[in-house]
Amino acid sequence: MNLHVAIIMDGNGRWATQQGLARSKGHEAGAKTIRTVTEFAARHEAIDTLTLYAFSTENWKRPKSEVTFLMKLLERYLEQEKSTLLENRIRFVAIGNRDAFSPSLQNKLHDLEEATKNGTALTQVLALNYGAHDEIVRAVQKLQATHQTVTQENLTQALDLPQDVDILIRTGGNQRISNFLLWQASYAELFFTPTLWPDFST
Ligand code: FPP
Repeated sequence: MNLHVAIIMDGNGRWATQQGLARSKGHEAGAKTIRTVTEFAARHEAIDTLTLYAFSTENWKRPKSEVTFLMKLLERYLEQEKSTLLENRIRFVAIGNRDAFSPSLQNKLHDLEEATKNGTALTQVLALNYGAHDEIVRAVQKLQATHQTVTQENLTQALDLPQDVDILIRTGGNQRISNFLLWQASYAELFFTPTLWPDFST
């Protein structure tokens, strides 16, 4: 089995509020859960790809302080995870439109992708500044720019991520897809859990 599991990680803010903590603490706890769940997936041979919705095209609308915090957390994550990803033979890939990110963040994404490109235990895909509508429009633009006909096969290959999703999980109680992998998840099995993302691994 070469399963592609995709997760909409929701509920960091509520997890923090429930404990009387700032929302930023929820995002920090969420980043730890990313590590635990990724290591779990790497140990399970049936799982080939784990795609995590880390920052959507809509997330820019959050308060500026929260966006700034998430960007810093992401930079820290990219620096700190390198050794764990290499140790566990995990390949890192980012999808989404990275043009909107700072040059420093873009460099870190590129460096981590290069450093881990021979990882075979698992591919961890982080969706960053990702929205499925945006991805599909960019894919069609790529086909136009390279004079390819718009067929299902060509469009799939022009997407940021061509693999179909087998299992789509959303934590945090909402039963919505929120513009995540709309093309790839056409035949996915959907799982919704009320568990908040920071608690997902415990
Ligand atoms: C939010 O829960 C979830 C996100 C903003 C996406 C996931 C982000 C993380 C797990 C943070 C760390 C990520 C990396 C890559 C370091 P929410 O704030 O929408 O929760 P709420 O619905 O309870 O308010």
